[in-house]
Amino acid sequence: MEPAQKALMLNTGIAAQAMTLDSASIRSEFPTLNREVRDGVPLVYLDSAATSQKPRQVLEKVERFYRDCNANVHRGIHTLAEEATTQYEGARERIADFINAGAAREVIFTGNATQALNLVAQSWGRANLYKGDRIVLTEMEHHSNLVPWQMLATEKDLRIDIIPVRDDGELDQSEFDKLLRNKPKAVCITHVSNVLGTVNPLARIAEKARSVGALTVVDGAQSAPHLPVDVQALGADFFAFSGHKMCGPTGVGVLWGRAELLQLMPPFLGGGDMIKRVYLRDFEPNEIPYKFEAGTPPIGEAIGLGAAVDFLTDVGMDAIWQHEQWLIKYALERLEEFPGVTVYGPAGGVRGGVAAFTLEGVHPHDIAQVLDTSGVAVRAGHHCAMPLHDRFNLVATARASFYLYNTRDEVDELIRGLYKVKDLFG
Ligand code: ALA
Repeated sequence: MEPAQKALMLNTGIAAQAMTLDSASIRSEFPTLNREVRDGVPLVYLDSAATSQKPRQVLEKVERFYRDCNANVHRGIHTLAEEATTQYEGARERIADFINAGAAREVIFTGNATQALNLVAQSWGRANLYKGDRIVLTEMEHHSNLVPWQMLATEKDLRIDIIPVRDDGELDQSEFDKLLRNKPKAVCITHVSNVLGTVNPLARIAEKARSVGALTVVDGAQSAPHLPVDVQALGADFFAFSGHKMCGPTGVGVLWGRAELLQLMPPFLGGGDMIKRVYLRDFEPNEIPYKFEAGTPPIGEAIGLGAAVDFLTDVGMDAIWQHEQWLIKYALERLEEFPGVTVYGPAGGVRGGVAAFTLEGVHPHDIAQVLDTSGVAVRAGHHCAMPLHDRFNLVATARASFYLYNTRDEVDELIRGLYKVKDLFG
C-alpha cells in the first residue's frame, strides 16, 4: 500500500467517528479538484451525480495497464494476455465483494448503467414478458429505467403502471400496494433519485414485489457510489450501476443479476467472447458472465473501476454515506433559508447528496452559468428525468450534487454564488 493511501485510511478512520471525512487528505488524491476554472478562480465541483472526479490511484492504474500490459482478455496465452485477464477478472471479483454478490460470475461488465438496464429489458424482458403483462415503473425514474421498458412495451404490447411521487418526494407506497394487485411481472425502480435524493425503501419494495411473483430491477447509479450496497440483503433480482459516478472511468458499468436468472436468459448482443461454439447457422452461448460480454470488453476501464472500488472501500462506504448526510443536511439548511429558492425532495431524514432547486424568476441555465463565473459547477436541466420534472410542473432545475471530497466551505461558495445570481437577475 502506498504511504498516501495509508495516511488517507488513518485520517478517514478518525474522521469517520466525527461523522465526516478528512477532506484535505481526500481532496489531495483528486488532481482535478486542485485546478482553477480560470485565473484565480478555483473549482468547486458540485456535479458528481453527473460524473465523479477520479482519484490518482484510478488514473495511475489505468495508465499502468495501457503502458505496461495492454492485451486483450480471454483470447491469448501469451504473458500480456494472461496479465490483462488476471487484472480484468480481479476487478470483477473486487466489485462482486463491494456489492456482496453471491459470486463473481453474477457481475457483468457493460458500458454503463443504461446499457445494463437495456440488457435486462432486452434479454430477460423479451424472453419472459408477453402481451398484456404488466410492469411497474416509478415517476422518479431516470430515462434509463423508463425508455428501455417503454420500447419493450411497444414491441410486446405490455402494460406500464406507474408508482406516483408524493409532494414530499417519496413514492406513494399505498399506490404501489394497489398496483401489486394486478400481479406485475417486474418492478423497475431507482434506489436513490438523481434529482430528489429520495432513498427508496428497496428491501421492503423487493419483498412486496416477490410476494406477487415480480422481479425487482434496480437502477443503482446513484446509490452504489454513495452508500454501502448489499445486493443480497436488498433482495433485488438485478442491480445496475456506472463506473464513472463512483471514481472510476467512463465507458464501464455493471449489471449484477442473480445467477439462476442470468443462466436462463438468452444473450443480448452476439459476437466474440459470448459463445462456446459457433457453427455456420447456429451457436452455443458461453457461461455467465461471458454470455453477456460480447466483443472486446472495456478492459482498461473495468480495471480502473476495480481500483475505484478499492479506493472507496479503503475510505469506507459507511463513512462516505455519513459524510454526505452531514453535507446535504447543511446544504438544505442553507438553500432553504435563501430567499426565492425552492428545493425539491424529502425535507429531512435520510437523503442522498443531491439538491435540485429553483430560484424564483431565474432560469436554471442562467443560475448554472453565473455560478460558473465563481467556479461553482452545478448541472441545470431535466437531469434525464423529464417525467419527474413534469410532475412538479418544472421545465428544469439547477442541481448541486455532493460526494466524498466536497466540503461545507463549498456549500458556502454555492450560496455566495447564488447571491451573485440574485444581484444580476434582480
Ligand atoms: N444521469 C446523470 C445525472 O443525473 C448523468 O446527471
